[in-house]
Amino acid sequence: MKEFYINHLETGVEFQDFFMVKSIAVKMGANKKQYLDLMLGDCTGEITAKKWDVSDAELPALNEIKEGDIIKVKAGVTEWNGMRQLRVMRIRKAVEQDEQELWDFIKAAPEKTQDMFDYICRAVEAMSDVDLKAISRRMMEENKEQLLYYPAATKNHHSQYGGLLYHMKRMIDMGERACLVYKNLKRDWVVCGVIIHDMEKIREIESNELGIASGYSFEGQMLGHLVQGVKYVDRLAGELGIPKEKAIMLEHMILTHHYEPEFGSPKKPLFPEAELLHYLDMMDAKMFDMEAALAATRPGEFSDRVWTLDNRKLYKPTTDTE
Ligand SMILES: [Fe+2]
Ligand SMILES: [Fe+2]
Repeated sequence: MKEFYINHLETGVEFQDFFMVKSIAVKMGANKKQYLDLMLGDCTGEITAKKWDVSDAELPALNEIKEGDIIKVKAGVTEWNGMRQLRVMRIRKAVEQDEQELWDFIKAAPEKTQDMFDYICRAVEAMSDVDLKAISRRMMEENKEQLLYYPAATKNHHSQYGGLLYHMKRMIDMGERACLVYKNLKRDWVVCGVIIHDMEKIREIESNELGIASGYSFEGQMLGHLVQGVKYVDRLAGELGIPKEKAIMLEHMILTHHYEPEFGSPKKPLFPEAELLHYLDMMDAKMFDMEAALAATRPGEFSDRVWTLDNRKLYKPTTDTE
């Protein structure tokens, strides 16, 4: 049984426990000594780990350890540059007798993937625009198998089992509320935009069935999910006979949702639902990252630096006030 979860590791503690290897590499330090550079994970989070002064004799055993393996380490928790880090003293691959529970090591969305899938399908069935309904329904059906486990990122926000569905579900939930406040918004466009905006992450990112992403596909590296998404909508619009104006507006929503050219969008949104889509996307990513950082922080203290939040350290209050 696991005892030490990453989110609850306190600086100064020494311990032994099991983790999943997220990345592993032997590197050369400035002092010309080899060291092992690791990213370790469990169901609560991830942490970097170093094993200093690796000798040549240790290399064959270390080379056996691959990403996705469960390992046992003896380590101490240190702090470097405002981040907790493990200083590894011993490391070995887990063996069958260790009897680890796989879900202790997998980060998963907090809701059942089938429930989230059904929630989104109900939002689709509530659409009155037949074209938007048809394309949303087709995308949900065509991608069902992967949606039930796919992460929405290789790291950071929603890089977890079911993360893409969780991202879509929360954006739809928030988007429907925005439609109650901003009466100029058309609800079907908002819901459809959310469903299509990141769907091609399924073909941009490579993931196994545990939602662990190993990197980007060839198509993902060369085109990215925005351009892949435009191609996908173009194909489906042809197959479903969706009028050209609508098809192009949907493609525009995908193309503009990252908003800035440096994040991959060549155009800015040119209608309100496309503008909202960007903010729903941003809001969900930021809230996710904040929640994750604070989950690993003790009351009255600041979090580790969060790269996706401009290296801010977030504060967790001492009292849980309503
Ligand atoms: Fe995106
Ligand atoms: Fe997104």
